[in-house]
Amino acid sequence: MSTDVQARVAIVTGAGRGIGAAIARRLAGDGVAVVVADIDEPEATSVAAEIGGDSIAFGVDITDGGQVAGLANFVAARFGRCDILVNNAAILDATPLAALDMARFRKVQDVNLDGALAVTLALLPLLRQSKAGRILNIASILGVRGARDSVAYSAAKGGIVNLTRALACDLGSDGITANALAPGFIDTRMALLPDGSGHEHETDWFRDIYLKYGRIPLLRPGTPEDVADAARFFCSNDSRYVTGQVLLVDGGVSATF
Ligand SMILES: NC(=O)c1ccc[n+]([C@@H]2O[C@H](COP(=O)([O-])OP(=O)(O)OC[C@H]3O[C@@H](n4cnc5c(N)ncnc54)[C@H](O)[C@@H]3O)[C@@H](O)[C@H]2O)c1
Repeated sequence: MSTDVQARVAIVTGAGRGIGAAIARRLAGDGVAVVVADIDEPEATSVAAEIGGDSIAFGVDITDGGQVAGLANFVAARFGRCDILVNNAAILDATPLAALDMARFRKVQDVNLDGALAVTLALLPLLRQSKAGRILNIASILGVRGARDSVAYSAAKGGIVNLTRALACDLGSDGITANALAPGFIDTRMALLPDGSGHEHETDWFRDIYLKYGRIPLLRPGTPEDVADAARFFCSNDSRYVTGQVLLVDGGVSATF
C-alpha cells in the first residue's frame, strides 16, 4: 500500500463510532489529518482524541444546511484543503411496510441520501482544489439487494449507489474519483437488536440462515476494520483509475442466494 495519503486532509462523517471511527483510525494511521464529523460531538471528540495528531472533532448534523456549511468553512479555515470525503453517517430503519409512513420515509432519505449529497456539494470547492480528490460513499448491501422491512433504508442506499456513479461521471474532469462500499453484516451498534438484548449475529436467525446454510461464505459477521481496510484503498492513490464503482464488503453474501 502506498503511503501517498500523507499530509492529506479527510472528512469522515458519522466517525464518532462504528465503521466511520474505524475508517478515521485507518486514514490517520497513514498520516492523514481526519475531521471526525458526527452529530454526537462527545463521541467524535473521544475518537479524535484517541487518534491524536492533526485530527479534530467537529459536531455536525448533516441534515442541517447551516451546520454543513459550517463544516466546510471550518475545514477551509483550519486546513485550507480537503482531499478525501467519506460520506458514512446514516441511520438504520427497519420499519415494516405496513407501518411505514411518508414522514419516516423522508426522514431516512434526509439523513442517508440527502445528507451525503449536501456534504458533498459543500466540500466540492475544496475537493476540486485537491489534484486527486476522493469521495467514498458508504452504501449497503441493501443498496443493491432488497430485504423485508427495509423499504426506506434500501431506497436511500440504492440512491447512494447510483449517486456515486453519477458523481463519478460529473467529477472525473476535476480529477475526483467517487466510489462506494456496500457493507454486509457488520457488527456495530447499528447491528444491535432493537430491544438492546444483544447482537444480531448471536440470534438463532443469523446462525441458522447465514452460518449454518452458508449465506455468509466467510462464516462470520464483518468488523468495522474489514470495511476500513477496503476504504483505505479507495482513499489512496492506489485507486487512481477506479471511479464509479461499488465494492461489496459482505463476506460473500451477495455471491450466493
Ligand atoms: N453495520 C452494518 O451492518 C452496516 C451494513 C451496511 C451498511 N452500513 C452503513 O455503514 C455506515 C456506518 O454504519 P455503522 O454500522 O457504523 O452505524 P453506527 O450507528 O454505529 O454509526 C453511525 C454514525 O452516524 C452518526 N450520524 C447519524 N445521523 C447523523 C447525522 N444526521 N449527522 C451526522 N452524523 C450522524 C451517528 O451519530 C453514528 O456515530 C452507515 O452508512 C450504514 O448505513 C452499516
